[in-house]
Amino acid sequence: MKVGIIGAGTMGAGIAQAFAQTDQYEVCLCDINETFAENGKNRIRQALEKRVEKGKLEREVCNQILNKITTGTSEICFDCDLIVEAALEVLEVKQETFQKLHEICKEDCIFATNTSSLSITEISQNVGRPVVGMHFFNPAPVLKLVEVISGLNTPKEMVQKIIRIVEEIGKVPVEVEESGGFVVNRILIPMINEAIGIYAEGGASKEGIDAAMKLGANHPMGPLALGDLIGLDVCLAIMEVLQKEFGEAKYHPHPYLRKMVRGRKLGVKTGSGFYEYN
Ligand code: CAA
Repeated sequence: MKVGIIGAGTMGAGIAQAFAQTDQYEVCLCDINETFAENGKNRIRQALEKRVEKGKLEREVCNQILNKITTGTSEICFDCDLIVEAALEVLEVKQETFQKLHEICKEDCIFATNTSSLSITEISQNVGRPVVGMHFFNPAPVLKLVEVISGLNTPKEMVQKIIRIVEEIGKVPVEVEESGGFVVNRILIPMINEAIGIYAEGGASKEGIDAAMKLGANHPMGPLALGDLIGLDVCLAIMEVLQKEFGEAKYHPHPYLRKMVRGRKLGVKTGSGFYEYN
């Protein structure tokens, strides 16, 4: 089976790796140009090399996984059986991407989106075929959950197919009806926003807040480090969707989150957020 991943950023590359590590999948990793797509593949190469160095992956298997990933622009997806779109979190970008793919791809190719909070129903408008949500979590090669989201026009059989594919790649599906933030982000992102509020108000140091949640709630990482990992721009965009959908005060993005995003302190991807990265 051939899967096309659209968008070779952190999520796209992670999703491509998850598929390529499963025997029966070949992967087309795409971006707006060959260089961006190749950068995504290099990211996967680095992640796999680390596992080889640690003795957790054989060199030969590492090479086999990499050989299953072809890079390019979306035109190479013409014979794919499944598309997982992980492009920018902008409605128009996703709609246009799928409209173009509808012209390129086989009639029976399934269209899935990795959107973190946009409406599946809206994304599928004027695409020419239905779309299903297939929401992975960062780091995608490691985290087991995939939210499988139905829009108003997503056929039940399509949802069932995606659930089977999720299980094939060794992950765990949870079925979700479309609603703002789905399940995880509706709970997780307001928590990060709250942690930012405590920090901005001088309630505790960033290290203190993160240690508190790690040791007091047994989270694998603290909320501020997690915000950095997700990307503070992504956190802000999700808060804005929640605020628009539900209009409740608890979903107001904290001004300090806006300030960080304005200052391009977005976390791991820009090298600086609540913490510094190199
Ligand atoms: N890419 C690939 N693999 C990674 C990775 C990455 N970015 N980060 C860590 N790993 C791998 C490591 O190589 C290691 O693999 P091995 O066991 O095979 O050696 C394994 O994950 C564990 O890593 P570490 O030992 O270095 O560190 P850890 O045990 O502290 O785990 C973590 C790191 C997996 C990131 C863990 O801290 C964690 O689960 N944090 C929470 C992450 C989370 O909540 N993510 C969800 C964000 S929300 C989202 O993504 C949705 C959205 O729409 C915004």
